[in-house]
Amino acid sequence: MKSVLFVCLGNICRSPMADAIAAHMARQRGLDLRVDSAGTGAWHAGEAADRRTLAVLRAHGIPYDGRARQVRVSDFAEFDLILAMDRSNLRDLLAICPPANRDRVHLVLEPLGEGLEVGDPYYGGPDGFEVVYRQLTEALEHWLA
Ligand code: 4NP
Repeated sequence: MKSVLFVCLGNICRSPMADAIAAHMARQRGLDLRVDSAGTGAWHAGEAADRRTLAVLRAHGIPYDGRARQVRVSDFAEFDLILAMDRSNLRDLLAICPPANRDRVHLVLEPLGEGLEVGDPYYGGPDGFEVVYRQLTEALEHWLA
């Protein structure tokens, strides 16, 4: 079974959204895909996703009940793909990634253009979360294909 891990800073806003959308798309397409998400930081470990992420998912009919966790070095061997939301996440991941697994680590928006990022919506309004949803949905269509 193929597997993908989505990574952001807190694992409460962007990467849980990606996790939920990818799992939903895989179910719709009958794909056997293992999906998870994690944060480079541990501040929110054990917490449910941000209510604004959950509201956008709910509006699109997508369930999510995951809890935040920090990324582990073992993730690099366990997941076929590790997709970072922004360049800061990518840098933090590559700093701890075993050399043999570096080619598994990419920016999630890579299929839409080199260097594109999913901006952190944490300090903005609810519109930012809908933008994140649209960016992720478009990129994930490419990754799942
Ligand atoms: P995320 O957003 O990385 O998309 O989960 C953030 C969540 C929390 C914080 C920063 C970004 N924080 O500073 O607590």
